[in-house]
Amino acid sequence: MTEVQIGKSEVYASKLGLGTNAVGGHNLYPNLDEEVGKEVVRTALRNGVTLLDTAFSYGRGRSEELIGEVLQEEEFDRSKVVIASKAAHDMANGGVFNNSPEFLKNAVEESLKRLQTTYLDIFYIHFPDEETPKNEAVAALHELKRAGKIKAIGVSNFSLEQLKEANQDGYVDVIEERYSLIHREHEDTLFPYLKEQKISFVPYYPLDSGLLTGKYEKEATFDDSDLRSKNPDFKGERFKEIIGKVDSLKPIAEQYEVTVTQLVLAWYMKHPVMGVVIPGAKRPEQVEANVKACDVQLSQEDFDKIDQLFR
Ligand SMILES: NC(=O)c1ccc[n+]([C@@H]2O[C@H](COP(=O)([O-])OP(=O)(O)OC[C@H]3O[C@@H](n4cnc5c(N)ncnc54)[C@H](OP(=O)(O)O)[C@@H]3O)[C@@H](O)[C@H]2O)c1
Repeated sequence: MTEVQIGKSEVYASKLGLGTNAVGGHNLYPNLDEEVGKEVVRTALRNGVTLLDTAFSYGRGRSEELIGEVLQEEEFDRSKVVIASKAAHDMANGGVFNNSPEFLKNAVEESLKRLQTTYLDIFYIHFPDEETPKNEAVAALHELKRAGKIKAIGVSNFSLEQLKEANQDGYVDVIEERYSLIHREHEDTLFPYLKEQKISFVPYYPLDSGLLTGKYEKEATFDDSDLRSKNPDFKGERFKEIIGKVDSLKPIAEQYEVTVTQLVLAWYMKHPVMGVVIPGAKRPEQVEANVKACDVQLSQEDFDKIDQLFR
């Protein structure tokens, strides 16, 4: 699988990663089966995915623990896996965001224990707090990098202004933000700065939580226990409009003999600004299907066509 460098760091990762908020993320999804979650991780690694995107907040450490258990298995080699984790939720203070150097250093130590490893390939500040100067938070991560505890510095859910403050010393390697064919706000603001500063971009919710897979009809409804019922993309006219656009991808997908999901993932992978694309998965079969997107040779003409369809 194609590899990409993470910012200016020494970390290289597969272009397609795995989002693991459904691996042990019991606080996000009800009735998750942990054994299925571990098999999702194994399937990704067996199929050439090297980057696993996790966070403390996915099951309050449970996602990290399950990944740590899988990486202890004889079949896998920790040194070939790129672990990306995040923290900011301060549970001792009701879950508020905390970016203080002391909190971040402690959060990394706790992550390392749960993941049963001695370093994180990427550590992201998951959300900005209101108090800590962003460059001081990143300076703490730079110290961790020098100590070999992390190998690349990331931030997530930062605005362009917050990123610029965080990157005053040029230490930020990667930013993870919401981005998909439906949510393209960052293109005009963030992307030019990332290019200029050689900061990698990791889009989260690339499938817009499943909406971009082509599996929903306009008539679909989601009950209250399903998180999607609270997502404006899954409601009313907006939902119908998005499904209409997704349906227009079907003939293009057919032409390539792939699914809509594979076509959408191939679009990101051809996009010059995308670093690692991290679709989540609830079942191993979804991972198997998603890795096939790496084989799609999307033409520039079809890339542009899809680009226009979703503008
Ligand atoms: N930095 C942040 O603040 C932040 C925030 C959110 C997420 N993230 C990261 O981004 C990752 C991706 O986000 P996400 O997982 O929430 O959303 P996503 O990647 O947009 O959608 C993933 C969901 O789509 C469905 N799906 C995946 N592959 C499929 C396939 N081949 N066919 C049909 N359905 C398929 C599955 O849900 P169903 O089977 O239920 O349809 C899966 O859970 C997360 O796992 C997490 O690592 C980061």
